[in-house]
Parts: sequence; C-alpha cells; structure tokens
Amino acid sequence: MQTQLTLYQQRIQSKLQDLLSESLTFHAKVPAKLADAIKYATLNNGKRLRPALLYAIGEALEIPLVQLDSSACAIELIHSYSLVHDDLPAMDDDDLRRGQPTCHIQFDEATAILTGDAQQTLAFQVLSHDETVSDHHKIKLIQLLSQASGVSGMIGGQIIDMQSEDQQLDLMQLKTLHSMKTGALIRTALMMGAVQSERFASLQSTLSNLGDKIGLAFQVQDDILDIEADTETLGKPQGSDQQANKSTFPKLLGLTQSKTYRDDLIRQAKADLIELQIHSPFLDKLIEYIAQRNH
Ligand code: IPE
Ligand code: IPE
Ligand code: MG
Ligand code: MG
Ligand code: MG
Repeated sequence: MQTQLTLYQQRIQSKLQDLLSESLTFHAKVPAKLADAIKYATLNNGKRLRPALLYAIGEALEIPLVQLDSSACAIELIHSYSLVHDDLPAMDDDDLRRGQPTCHIQFDEATAILTGDAQQTLAFQVLSHDETVSDHHKIKLIQLLSQASGVSGMIGGQIIDMQSEDQQLDLMQLKTLHSMKTGALIRTALMMGAVQSERFASLQSTLSNLGDKIGLAFQVQDDILDIEADTETLGKPQGSDQQANKSTFPKLLGLTQSKTYRDDLIRQAKADLIELQIHSPFLDKLIEYIAQRNH
C-alpha cells in the first residue's frame, strides 16, 4: 500500500506545484507575499489522503488519472484552506501545522485569511478550466465540492465546532458535527473520483455510505491522536482539543469506547467496499490506515 500511496502523493505534489507556478509565478500581478503564503500553505507536508482516495476510486473505475488531477488538486486546496483558517487565532489558535509554523505565524493574520480565500477560489478555478473533463462532469464536480465544503458541509461543521467549545454534546450531535466538518469532504473525495464513471449512478448510494463511515472514522481518530500522539509526530500541537475544551469523541465516550467505535466504522466501511464490487486492495488498505495512522 505504501508504494501506491507514495505515488499518489508525488503525483498530487507535482500537479499542485505546476498549478501554483502557472497561476501565481507567471502572473506578475500576484503580490509576492500572497504567492509565497499560498505556496507555503499548499506545498507542505500534508498526508494527501483526500487526493489518494479520489485517485484510488477513480483508477479502480478505470478513469484515466489525467482526468482526475484537477479534482485531486481542488479537494486538497479546499482542505488546505480549511486548515489555514482552522488554525487562526479566532478559531483553534494553533501555531504548528504539518510540522511547520502555521500560516498566520509565518506570515500574518490578514495574509493567512486571504491565503485561505485564495486557495478556495483556486480550487474552483482549476476544476472549471480542465480541458480533459466534459462540461457536464465539470458542473457535477463543482456541485459536489461546493456542497461538501460549504454551509451544509465543512463550513457548517466548523461553526458548530466553535459553538460547541465548553458544551456537552450528545452522541447524535457529535456525529453530526464530525460528519460535517471532516466527513463531508472525505466522502466527496470518493464521489469526485467516481463521478466520471458510467457506473456512478448505480454506485452512488453505497459509495456515499462508505464515504460517511471513513469520514467519521477519520475525525474520531483525529480526536484520539490529539490525546495519544506527540506534537512532533503529529506535526500539530498535541492537546489542542483539551486546551480549548472541544467536543470530541474521547471526551464523550472515553478513549477505549472511541477506539471501538472507530474500529466498528472501519469494519462497516470495508463491508461497503465489498458491496460495491470494486476490486481495489489499495483502497481496502487505505481504509484500514485511516484508523491506524499515527499522525
Ligand atoms: C487534519 O486533516 C484536519 C482534519 C480534518 C481532521 P489531515 O490529518 O488529513 O491533515 P493533513 O492534510 O495530513 O495535514
Ligand atoms: C478541523 O478539525 C477540521 C477542519 C475542517 C479543518 P480539527 O480542528 O480537529 O483539525 P486539527 O486537529 O486542527 O487538524
Ligand atoms: Mg478545529
Ligand atoms: Mg484545529
Ligand atoms: Mg483535531
């Protein structure tokens, strides 16, 4: 699995590099500080799991990788923007991300806000300009990404997250919060990877269930790592959730039950993958890795 993951990570890195060179460096009008900050917050040490999921499902459905590149760039740009804003003083107020000072620490707050904004618009720019994808599919891709990252997805989840500091959420509310702030984008990585396939209509509903489970398991593991990992391995500050008194799974259920819940979700996700009848040993391993990762 590691080799395939590395290949996808290298591919997305090079595609993001090309995209940023083209849209920032060759355009003299982009102020250098903004261009530097966008590169800093995009071409850094992310795990690139959303692009990997997107490429993996797409390849399993025999969609050429070149037709997946703009979607992979777009989803990683949206995710990276969400991290830049998530770390701001007005939000989680963290100073370390992907093993380096957060964007607002390295540059300044205004630059970090505008960097996130720019990453978001670049995501839709790259999708809408892709000449290898049909107009019909482009519209579908833009719909999927805008919905998952918007008010009923990531942004909606982030505001619930902020409002839930110092609150006691019940299990239902916590699942909703996690599914929105993190699950929606992960689920959409799968949908964007598959949407150009002729099989998409018949796969859509099971694929969506699979994405929901992986997405939720991913954030449960993120909550667990905030307690169990160390800052150096994480590349972001350990204990950030506890310091801000966030609503998390370990806070509600305890560590042991959170792990059981995470493992249940992974088991269910693997069953969904079997139901989909998509042969992808890599996806199967990637789903397991989501729960076992140490950062
Ligand atoms: C961290 O996501 C933020 C969450 C949504 C939990 P990742 O763990 O995928 O972060 P990077 O992209 O590898 O830095
Ligand atoms: C963030 O959740 C989810 C996003 C939409 C960025 P967290 O606040 O738990 O992410 P980390 O732990 O800072 O990466
Ligand atoms: Mg947060
Ligand atoms: Mg955070
Ligand atoms: Mg977290």
